Amino acid sequence: MRSPSFLSWPPPPLLLLLLSPWPVWAQASAAAAPSGARGDLACPEACACAPGGQANCSRRELPAVPGGLNWSVLALLLDHNRVRALPPGAFVGAGALLRLDLRDNGLRWMHARAFWGLGALQHLDLSANQLEALAPGTFARLRALRALSLAGNRLARLEPAALGALPLLHELSLQDNQLSALPPGLLTCLPALNALRLRGNPWACGCALRPLCIWLRRHPRPAPEAETLLCVSPGNLVLSPLTAFPDAAFNHCAQSLAPRDLAVVYALGPVSFLASLAACLALGTMITACRTRRRRLAAARRPPRRPPDPGPCSASLADTGSPAAAAQA
Ligand SMILES: *[C@@H]1O[C@H](CO)[C@@H](O)[C@H](O)[C@H]1NC(C)=O
Ligand SMILES: *[C@@H]1O[C@H](CO)[C@@H](O)[C@H](O)[C@H]1NC(C)=O
Repeated sequence: MRSPSFLSWPPPPLLLLLLSPWPVWAQASAAAAPSGARGDLACPEACACAPGGQANCSRRELPAVPGGLNWSVLALLLDHNRVRALPPGAFVGAGALLRLDLRDNGLRWMHARAFWGLGALQHLDLSANQLEALAPGTFARLRALRALSLAGNRLARLEPAALGALPLLHELSLQDNQLSALPPGLLTCLPALNALRLRGNPWACGCALRPLCIWLRRHPRPAPEAETLLCVSPGNLVLSPLTAFPDAAFNHCAQSLAPRDLAVVYALGPVSFLASLAACLALGTMITACRTRRRRLAAARRPPRRPPDPGPCSASLADTGSPAAAAQA
């Protein structure tokens, strides 16, 4: 069942994003797709709902997440639509969602708070989209997440902050992206990981690949395909398997600092600068004070100056030592 209002919706959602603020747009989309009662399940009009809590909105050319989702929806199939962007709180109201399928939407952009409110979500499929970057914290609140697919996007970087610490995540699919390395800390924050898919990325076998290589050697089970992962650069290592590098191969790489160490360095820098500045000032003041005191003492000890003698031979021994006296003479 298709909603005519969705079909007549103009296609450029980016234009829509630029022209209208989110709240207005969210209301418009809610109005366009009021929840129609279908049994006792809230069902967006554009979708077909099954009693098990599944809202099937797949292949309906939807330009946005349909309105009218509530706590009775457990699985939302939104695959093969035209949802190009996800605003903050895109699924608010569907707090009981366990499974969310957003495959193949041409999705380019997700707000860092797009998935807020989905604390129960276990499976999130974002594969076959056009994501190039992920905002820090995008998945950090999905504490129940077990499987995440980012396969078939255009990701060239994946920061640990985008995933955060996901204690239950056991399946992470990153195949067919533009990743040349994984940063240190990304995999260590995923203690339950037991399936990691990495093929189809242009791995660059340099120092930046060290964290991944070391992780793969220590955890051979999660990535059984690791044997088949090959370097695409640099020239002399092209087609070398990633698992072929012993830890010693990275000995020439400078130990990179962990974020916590970096924070300490950054915090200590200004503090030590200020401290040394204060120390210099105190030392300078002390030295000046000492000199002034010494000069005063010396002046007190010196015999009172006599009026200059007319003859050069009459200058006393004390006066010849002073350059002022020499200049005077
Ligand atoms: C969800 O919406 C349906 C129909 O709109 C309604 O019957 C049901 O009570 C709602 N459930 C909750 C938990 O709000
Ligand atoms: C969802 O609906 C589409 C047709 O609109 C159908 O082809 C597909 O099989 C349905 N998916 C499920 C899981 O029911």
